[in-house]
Amino acid sequence: MDSADIRARWLKFFETNNSLKLPHTVVPSASLIADDPNLLLVNAGMVPFKPYFLGEAKPPYKRATSVQKCVRTLDIDEVGKTTRHASFFQMCGNFSFGDYFKEGAIALAWELLTKSVSSGGYGFSEDKLWVTVYQDDDEAANIWEKQIGVPKNRIQRRGMADNFWSMGVPGPCGPCSEIYFDRGSDYGKEGGPIVDEDRYLEIWNLVFMQNIRGEGGDKNSFPIIGELPAKNIDTGLGLERTAALLQGVENIYEIDTTKMILDKASELTKTKYGKDEKTDVSLRVIADHTRTAMMLIGDGVTPGNEGRGYVLRRMMRRTIRNMRLLGSQDLVIAELIKSSIKAMGPQYPELVTGGERILSVAQSEEDSFNQTLKSGTSIFDIAADQSKSTKSKSLSADTAFKLHDTYGFPFDLTLEMAREQGLEVDESGFKKLMNEQRDRAKADAKAKKSGHTDLTQYRAIVDKFGSTKFLGYENIKAESKITGVLVDGKAAAEVSAGSEIEVMLDRTPFYAEGGGQLADNGVIKLANGAVVKVEDVQTPVPGLFVHRGSVVSGVVKNGESASAEIDLQRRLAISRAHTATHMVHKAFREALGETATQAGSENAPGRFRFDFPSTSAVPTSVLNDVESRVNELLIADLQVDAQVMSQDAAKALGATALFGEKYGDQVRVVSVGDWAKELCGGTHVSRSGELGLIKLLSESSIGAGVRRVEALVGHDAYKFLAREHVLLNSLTEIIKGVRVEELPQRISDLIEKMRSMEKEISAINTAKAVTAAGDLLKKSKSTGNASVIIEQLGNGISGEDMRTIALDLKGKLKTGIVVLATINDAKPLLVAVVSAEAIKLGVKAGELIKLGSTILGGGGGGKDDFAQGGGSNADAITKAFAEIAKHIQGKLN
Ligand code: ALA
Repeated sequence: MDSADIRARWLKFFETNNSLKLPHTVVPSASLIADDPNLLLVNAGMVPFKPYFLGEAKPPYKRATSVQKCVRTLDIDEVGKTTRHASFFQMCGNFSFGDYFKEGAIALAWELLTKSVSSGGYGFSEDKLWVTVYQDDDEAANIWEKQIGVPKNRIQRRGMADNFWSMGVPGPCGPCSEIYFDRGSDYGKEGGPIVDEDRYLEIWNLVFMQNIRGEGGDKNSFPIIGELPAKNIDTGLGLERTAALLQGVENIYEIDTTKMILDKASELTKTKYGKDEKTDVSLRVIADHTRTAMMLIGDGVTPGNEGRGYVLRRMMRRTIRNMRLLGSQDLVIAELIKSSIKAMGPQYPELVTGGERILSVAQSEEDSFNQTLKSGTSIFDIAADQSKSTKSKSLSADTAFKLHDTYGFPFDLTLEMAREQGLEVDESGFKKLMNEQRDRAKADAKAKKSGHTDLTQYRAIVDKFGSTKFLGYENIKAESKITGVLVDGKAAAEVSAGSEIEVMLDRTPFYAEGGGQLADNGVIKLANGAVVKVEDVQTPVPGLFVHRGSVVSGVVKNGESASAEIDLQRRLAISRAHTATHMVHKAFREALGETATQAGSENAPGRFRFDFPSTSAVPTSVLNDVESRVNELLIADLQVDAQVMSQDAAKALGATALFGEKYGDQVRVVSVGDWAKELCGGTHVSRSGELGLIKLLSESSIGAGVRRVEALVGHDAYKFLAREHVLLNSLTEIIKGVRVEELPQRISDLIEKMRSMEKEISAINTAKAVTAAGDLLKKSKSTGNASVIIEQLGNGISGEDMRTIALDLKGKLKTGIVVLATINDAKPLLVAVVSAEAIKLGVKAGELIKLGSTILGGGGGGKDDFAQGGGSNADAITKAFAEIAKHIQGKLN
């Protein structure tokens, strides 16, 4: 039974083909990119349904079924070595949201597994199936025994680690019951899954989702902190494992789909599968990882050094490395990816349509890794040899760090390569160096923010007065007290006019730069009359707002009362930009899919920019659509609201969280109408109409896989358009009698016309020069048996024209040698043409030009019959001619 059939039977069974008459809604697989800030990649079928289990959102159906793409990399080292570990797999699931529970789930599972193939089931023989239940789950054990009829000795009880399922993090969880298939005595010991999980292969996990997991603990002992609002079912059947059993192959790497990729790897490396365990493992790793990489790229992940990008990079690098271990030095990724697309395409047609993009992302990663490998491997080899020659059994942390830091050589690769050479790597030393480097980078980044790497003074102020209270969402002005004054990073009691200063307040309306939004500007007026102009606000330590600027008048004293007021116009212009960013972000996600998630932004007065991952340029049509969509929604004058709520509630609302950002338990959700919802701490307008107008200016690449859109908003957008309008008008005035819409055609016609005129002029010039060349014929001199012309033409003749003239002259001479020069843009140009007879006499055009050009301070050369060159010193033409004449004479006499 092929994989596609297993999948189809699954969906069909739960949709209509079950005898319990429980129809399930078929839900397509969600993207691998989890819409969950706690999760890098979707790793279980239930992930997209989590809010329904938690009661955060109302499910639109009571029962659902899906075949979900999943990636798990925790056991990456097991891949290829065992029969059942895959980094990418498909989880077939059926879900009940407060509908059927244990009885229904167990009956459905048993029916599908044991129903005959001809009736749409998988046709497993009943006496090969074993089950496990959670240690005190008598209810489930009874259902298996009494209602299904599984003999008691094939129902085993296990503890929390095996039979209480959670996502590994706080969230829904519950006891579970697993179904295993006995592969027979060739595969291991008798005694059921509690004895041997290789012989008894787990195929299906039924989770009775009814509890909530709290923070902490491990898989044996995590805290259960409550009950879910309803009793639910979440199940997962491994498609690949089931396929291995139904296809009668030894492991999941040999099933129909994966085997295609494995065979390709074996063909490319000319390594026979089944030859020995070591090369088999490599082939399996390649098959598994290539497929995972292809599926990740398919869902919009691009290679990088963090998060999902790193998962992808690691998959690809391990693939390439294993290919090299099997002896391949060539570019391999394209072929492997193509075979993965072929294998998975029938189930995921978007992989076929997006094939070109997937290939191009993969290819460029392979190119860059090859570069890395080249430089890194030689450094590694030297270091490894050194270690061995000093009889050391390990590679130093310094070497591993240098490989990583300077050559981008992944640490796990260093580990693997060291292991192959029988060397250890000082891992803890490496980690220490990495941490030190991270701290340095952080300090550098902070230094930029704080101006001072020494944060003691700031910390002292927070310790004493607590965090600054930010009032800026509602107020533009606040009465406050000065809690600290710094000059050059040092505490100061009094600071007089003219000095640069940092002022800390207990309360402030000033927004500190953060979340892509620039800081407010404004003034702080002290009760004693002193005035500070604020030009920047930063938070060098969490919670402390540092107002930077200069003392305009009076004396600033620590501890004084002060009134702080922001520059309202700047704030409004920045807020407009920020709301605009949210709207453009949302419109891009609508147009390009979830991968167009913002990866950095800057909201400045009247303008904003917005970065997002994409390997190819966004088509102009999409940019136009996005711009038009957003402008329509400005006119719709949507209300902009900010609400503080729990992270889970925000998630249930469908608010977008930016990947890589850290959010607290309570988050602020900014909504533009019911349309764009995003977690955000920034300031915004109150209605979208206040934005006035949005104009996208440009879209460009700013590095590997990241695009940047720049845009204007409000008055700045209007000014830009108005200026363009004036420009256009002035063009229509210059090119008279043309309407604006005819301009592009007219300008391109003009350019075309200019080009053809240039050609004509050049042809006329040549004709003229050739005519003039007639006179040169008279200047030919006999040297030996040859006729020689060495002449300087008028200025400004092209090399091409000189060549035509020289050839023309040569044609008219017997045993001709023609050397011509011209001065073009103050530089001398030289051509030489030598007839076949003269060549026989030993004169070579290439030699003449080499000689002449050297004298002219340049270079050149060519063949025996024709050559050209030139130099920089036009005054030397006479000398060059004299030397050339001498050379010819030398040859001919
Ligand atoms: N959520 C369950 C699992 O992943 C079915 O095993």
